[in-house]
Amino acid sequence: MTARPASAQATVADDRVPARLPRLLPDGFSDKPTCLADHLARYGQPVAPAQSSRRREEFIAEVEIAGLAGRGGAGFPTARKLAAVASRRHAIVIGNGTEGEPASTKDKVLLGRSPHLVLDGAVAAAEIVGATEAIIVAHPAVSDIVAAAVSERRRARLDRARLSVVPAADEFVAGEASAVVHWIERGIPTPKPPGRRLSESGLHGRPTLLQNVETLAHLALITPYGADWFSAVGTVAEPGSMLVTLAGAVRYPGVYEVAIGTPVGEVLSLGGGTSGPPGALLVGGYFGTWVDSVRAAGVPLSAAGLQQVGVGVGAGLIAALPANACGLAETARIARYLASSSAGQCGPCVFGLDAIAGQVERLADGRGPDMARLHRWLGQVGSGRGACKHPDGTVRMIASALALFSREIDHHVRGWCSGSASRAGLLPVPAWSLR
Ligand SMILES: Cc1cc2nc3c(=O)[nH]c(=O)nc-3n(C[C@H](O)[C@H](O)[C@H](O)COP(=O)(O)O)c2cc1C
Ligand code: SF4
Repeated sequence: MTARPASAQATVADDRVPARLPRLLPDGFSDKPTCLADHLARYGQPVAPAQSSRRREEFIAEVEIAGLAGRGGAGFPTARKLAAVASRRHAIVIGNGTEGEPASTKDKVLLGRSPHLVLDGAVAAAEIVGATEAIIVAHPAVSDIVAAAVSERRRARLDRARLSVVPAADEFVAGEASAVVHWIERGIPTPKPPGRRLSESGLHGRPTLLQNVETLAHLALITPYGADWFSAVGTVAEPGSMLVTLAGAVRYPGVYEVAIGTPVGEVLSLGGGTSGPPGALLVGGYFGTWVDSVRAAGVPLSAAGLQQVGVGVGAGLIAALPANACGLAETARIARYLASSSAGQCGPCVFGLDAIAGQVERLADGRGPDMARLHRWLGQVGSGRGACKHPDGTVRMIASALALFSREIDHHVRGWCSGSASRAGLLPVPAWSLR
């Protein structure tokens, strides 16, 4: 770990942002965007972190000590991405607020309620990597709010970096990093063929720092308040808080900010617990893993904790199914949606996911799937065969369903389903993907 530079030993500047939660979302129930005046009253003036390359290095070291990891799904260390871009000229920053995943709302809620915190983070990131420009790609549901916040800041002449907003394409794969770049460059929301890293050659060939918008919001707070403040919550290995979307069969679905390492059962309690006897949880998002909710209840919501039950944090989604719902029917709907979301560029993704989703549908409907084929295709398609991780993520989710719902599979193969809940579907998928 990097030694802490003396000049970057930022401590809590004042007590306006205590270590307790929430840090990122407004305290209270308002669902209105926080205006600039209220934002500055709560967090203070944003700190322009880096005028010289030495100061930039110090701030990158502070982010490394804080242990900030990306909140967009892959959990990559943010300091490493900052360092890779800061070493190059003509850099640009992109905030990824695409959030194409239908059940996830954490980035929309963050951008909708705390737009200035994300913008503070984008500006801080730009200063750290020596960029003069930052673009926020925001889900269309909240892009106007972010654009209004940018205008407020322009009028107040708050930032040196030029900020702009691009409404995102509302599609699942549009949030993949190279797809975001493709969307800004050419209005095409599909991943680009693998090539050089974005940190070397991204938007218009420029070194590009692309971070999830929640990652930027945390960065905005580490810059003034420092690594010690950041790690006052969370685990030693994974400090900080995270936004979690609770979806499905919970009493109060929504977005909650929790300390990393909070047991999954406690996180569900924030949403009032499950509505009805708990069944399975889909953790991490539609690329995530199905797990038994009783088994998961005591497990810490952290990468290390979830690993004990073979699950990843992913994009911070926990979707609950009641015990009387058919997990295979839910899986079939999500599988069809993900197969239909393929960007149509790689054979294994286009044909493989379609064929796999067809077999999962046969399984869910009791139409006699070919299980041997299904398992073989899952092995073939989910092994890094696409240009992006779409096939891998889809296969991971389906394989975990086949493992968790094995008893239900036996029932379905014999022609009956033990799920008594409506088969209309609990977890959201767009209507166009339903057959
Ligand atoms: C199919 C697909 C969809 C993705 N969608 C999103 C998204 O909507 N938002 C997001 O931040 N990251 C998404 N990602 C992850 C991004 O590629 C990238 O890793 C992330 O934005 C980097 O930011 P972070 O390091 O701050 O997490 C997606 C990845 C894949 C493979
Ligand atoms: S793997 Fe699928 S989603 Fe990813 S680039 Fe290829 S066709 Fe598109």
